[in-house]
Amino acid sequence: MEYRGYDSAGVAVLDGTIQVRKKAGKIANLDALLAQSPLPDTGTAIGHTRWATHGGPTDSNAHPHVSSDGRVALIHNGIIENFAALRAELQAQGIEFSSETDTEVAAQLLGVELAKGADLADGMRTVCRRLAGAFTLVAIDALQPGRLVAARRNSPLVVGVGDGENFVASDVAAFIEFTRSAIELGQDQLVDVTAESITVTDFFGGPAETHPFEVTWDTSAAEKGGYDWFMRKEIYEQPKAVADTLLGRYTPEGALTLDELRIPEAELRSVDKIIIVACGTAYYAGLVAKYAIEHWTRVPCEVEIASEFRYRDPIISPTTLVVTISQSGETADTLMAIRHAREQKAKVIAICNTNGATIPRESDAVIYTHAGPEIGVASTKGFLTQVAACYLLGLYLAQVRGAMFDDEIHNVMNELAATPPLIQEVLDRIGQIREVAARFVDTRSVLFLGRHVGYPVALEGALKLKELAYLHAEGFPAGELKHGPIALVEDQLPIFVVVPPQGRDQLHDKVVSNIQEVRARGALTIVLAEEGDVEVEPYADILFSLPKVSTLLQPLVATVPLQMFACELATLKGFDVDQPRNLAKSVTVE
Ligand code: F6R
Repeated sequence: MEYRGYDSAGVAVLDGTIQVRKKAGKIANLDALLAQSPLPDTGTAIGHTRWATHGGPTDSNAHPHVSSDGRVALIHNGIIENFAALRAELQAQGIEFSSETDTEVAAQLLGVELAKGADLADGMRTVCRRLAGAFTLVAIDALQPGRLVAARRNSPLVVGVGDGENFVASDVAAFIEFTRSAIELGQDQLVDVTAESITVTDFFGGPAETHPFEVTWDTSAAEKGGYDWFMRKEIYEQPKAVADTLLGRYTPEGALTLDELRIPEAELRSVDKIIIVACGTAYYAGLVAKYAIEHWTRVPCEVEIASEFRYRDPIISPTTLVVTISQSGETADTLMAIRHAREQKAKVIAICNTNGATIPRESDAVIYTHAGPEIGVASTKGFLTQVAACYLLGLYLAQVRGAMFDDEIHNVMNELAATPPLIQEVLDRIGQIREVAARFVDTRSVLFLGRHVGYPVALEGALKLKELAYLHAEGFPAGELKHGPIALVEDQLPIFVVVPPQGRDQLHDKVVSNIQEVRARGALTIVLAEEGDVEVEPYADILFSLPKVSTLLQPLVATVPLQMFACELATLKGFDVDQPRNLAKSVTVE
């Protein structure tokens, strides 16, 4: 099983007893350990690559985890939200833990069940019923050679059906070399596997419906999950990535918790200015966040391009909170801005996707986005998860400072939690964008318009098109066009317009007027508007419907078709979408 996977790895085999080898760092480190200290060839084994959530990337926190009686070895993807209570309960029974992970709780619980005499599958079902959160678990029992059990909730698990051998994995890529026959497990299901048998049940032991399928793509496509580009795969991963960013941030009592945020609440209460610093797409995520953070916290928030920051001698004091956003965590411009801010005694919070990278290491605190590795050079799930993480920070500051009532925070959190299926809805309709890209494949220029949070979305749409399709593309605030850029509008020029939801203010109607202004000058309008927006329909040459969300959350759904437009257009033009010319994934020079 792989998680977001690259900061530690481990394997366990069953050979009379359970034998484990695990190591922090890249898989090469585990390889070296195995060369030094080989494992026997046995028929039953489990392996895992980890991306740290609870507990840093160390040897002891790497999976598999073994129950303290040595009987169970277990690997886990996901986050067990109620692990603290379960850990305390097990410790009260005298069980000693050897890691800081949430995963070890599941291994110890299963150990306790088996010690009581439970069968492996029954024991695992009992454990699963006690866990809250997201998990895929795979476990082996020292006393039951040739057998393993796996279970899933809110996290993927597939079974590979071989000839005299069977597999379970987080993704078919792990076993496609050996078999193309697979079974996808449904929510809250458990599979009991031997070399000859596969039995699927629900968490109560009842019968379960499964979905057998044949994998049609080959090993080389496996890494990309069957997609032609990592970028496309990452666009499709966005519902899960955003859900993972939000996972475990809200206590059952209704309070927002940002465990990683090690800045005392008193200091957060004294903050009188927020400066967000980032580059490129991350900077646009910061521009979106400004609207929400100021609205919720009533603290002034500036957003600054990192490479410009320290050269203008910004006004920073110990009560300034600097928020840096970086997917890679290694961007030199952003890092230099952090060093400058800390020299001036500001507190720095990093929003980052890469565990243990330089930027989080050099910051006072970090909120990880948990988007999983982003390999395509153009940032996609990075952007959506950065917006979501900034929103969590904004709400947290509002909570700490008493700037919002608990029920207001609760309502926004509920809305945020409801966005992943809405992003999926957008993806389900994305075929329409493919047709739009085919229609405009020969265009030389594209404009993007938006207002309020739709403005940074427009900027992001234009950046994606520039970097992938090498086209002239510009994003503008829709109301600013008439002050100059409208001179660019000519007959048949495609213009994307992000229309705000129909709300209480006049934002929506103002944008509808802006659309009419460009249409009157011959532009072809591709309008992204919420479903049921009949007012805008007459002015849309092409209308792409977005799910209904509140204005502040619209970037989470409206950015997706723009990402896909750039991806499709570049593909049609025959360009390398994952490695556009002149660009690198991490920009480690100033
Ligand atoms: C655009 C893109 C870049 C990055 C920027 C910052 O698609 O990927 O604009 O957003 O270079 O990178 P990080 O977030 O790694 O600091």
